[in-house]
Amino acid sequence: MTEPWWQTGVVYQIYPRSFADADGDGVGDLPGIAAHLDYVAGLGVDAIWLSPIYRSPMADFGYDISDYRDVDPLFGTIDDLETLVRAAHDRGLKVILDLVPNHTSDEHAWFAESRASRDNPKRDWYIWRDAGPAGAEPNNWPSFFGGSAWELDETTGQYYLHLFHRKQPDLNWHTPEVRAAVYDVMRFWLDRGIDGFRIDVLWLLAKDQTFADSPPVPPREHELDVARLEHPGFEDREETHDIVREMRALVDEYDHRVLIGEIYLPYERLVRYYGERLDGVHLPFNFGLVTASRFDAPTVRRLVEEYESFLPEGAWPNWVLGNHDISRIATRTAEGGARLAQMLLLTLRGTPTCYYGDELGLADGEIPPDRVVDPQAATGRNRDPARTPMPWEPSPTAGFSPDGVEPWLPVAAGHKQRNVQAQAADPRSELSLFRALTALRRGRRALQLGSLRLLGGTAPDDVLAYVREGEGEGEHVLVALHFGAEPRTADLSAASARPADLLLSTELDREGEVDLAALELRPREGVVISVR
Ligand code: GLC
Repeated sequence: MTEPWWQTGVVYQIYPRSFADADGDGVGDLPGIAAHLDYVAGLGVDAIWLSPIYRSPMADFGYDISDYRDVDPLFGTIDDLETLVRAAHDRGLKVILDLVPNHTSDEHAWFAESRASRDNPKRDWYIWRDAGPAGAEPNNWPSFFGGSAWELDETTGQYYLHLFHRKQPDLNWHTPEVRAAVYDVMRFWLDRGIDGFRIDVLWLLAKDQTFADSPPVPPREHELDVARLEHPGFEDREETHDIVREMRALVDEYDHRVLIGEIYLPYERLVRYYGERLDGVHLPFNFGLVTASRFDAPTVRRLVEEYESFLPEGAWPNWVLGNHDISRIATRTAEGGARLAQMLLLTLRGTPTCYYGDELGLADGEIPPDRVVDPQAATGRNRDPARTPMPWEPSPTAGFSPDGVEPWLPVAAGHKQRNVQAQAADPRSELSLFRALTALRRGRRALQLGSLRLLGGTAPDDVLAYVREGEGEGEHVLVALHFGAEPRTADLSAASARPADLLLSTELDREGEVDLAALELRPREGVVISVR
């Protein structure tokens, strides 16, 4: 096998605050993750991506970094990180860190210098502008966390740009020293054996140097047009691609590392982040399943067709089902939908990224108003519900924190039934399904690397079916996902006229020979079938 690990492997995202609290302060930490590495390895995943663990005042829970080269004491020490990386590597797990290059914390030493005076040598490390007419903000750019993206700094009487929290000033990527400084940070971690980076808000790095207003936002033409470009002044600028190429060249100095880009754009624009000569990021995150307003067969079929049609020659696809910024898949889908979605994610063509807890079918937690902590909640999009503590066992703290400690976010309801301990003991649980899916994938090149052919026409509208086919292999794999709420008989004989064996059902209760011309599917049942 010569394919890189990030093509054949499965990525598992850990939100460190919420995975396991070893020191009993209510917040998850690195020793907590280390203590559960056998669980992670046992999921059959190949890499963990950790949301930021660097020094941070936590205005955006770690995405506001005050020192890129140190671990926040809340999470542990740099030694703890090195121990974790070693333990992960011992188990064959890669470790991907979050890289947040668009902004620092306002408590970063660089910003303290930059804001000190207009002639400070680091002044142009951030984006400073004079007020507009009558003291107004320099332009109409909004912050993703609500209000204007500009904050007036009294010391020097200028505004600085912050596309997120006012405690997250944007770095000025048009200043060569800034690029060099962030590239040094990348080297710092790559030299320590980190296997790659997930790059935060990659499509926002470069800014229009004329700082013109954003045009009025046109109404949506299609209900699925969730990811689109609304602010040409700071989204997907041509100069950003130069930066991406530089980052890739740096990472290519090391062996077997990966760059994953967080990019919310329509596919046509997204795929340009692979780079014209595949010299961009290895995996520009494909958020199609995350941003789609519906989870049904026609929607998913359209996403797969569209994505595959835009993929450049030689580019490796990827799919994401959830992350720390959006409602969990179990909440976004109807009953049974989470199992179906997991089967979809782990059988589509491309690298899957799974969000911690989704392997249990965990739903969004309910956050009482006095427990809301997300800075984005002010905009009406509270992300706390998708960040609740990992439920390990039925105890009041779910085994996340030691008994008697209040976790930073409330444990989601239903954890007495839905937890790792209970699901590990149940051969038909979501967890068992997840493990069966990763095992199936690992054993079959057709699923890891094979082509994907959507079956059309004969399958009823609420059944999505596709064939994964390896090169020069006898065995093909047919996946049929029934999104409907009524039992169905599907004719999938287009896949093959020969006998077929059912390998796995989302219900984990049947196997053996099936008739592809009349395949019985229960409501929201998905099946993987071996076809010769
Ligand atoms: C990304 C992160 C999100 C964070 C934002 C600002 O979208 O995923 O959690 O708030 O960037 O860093």
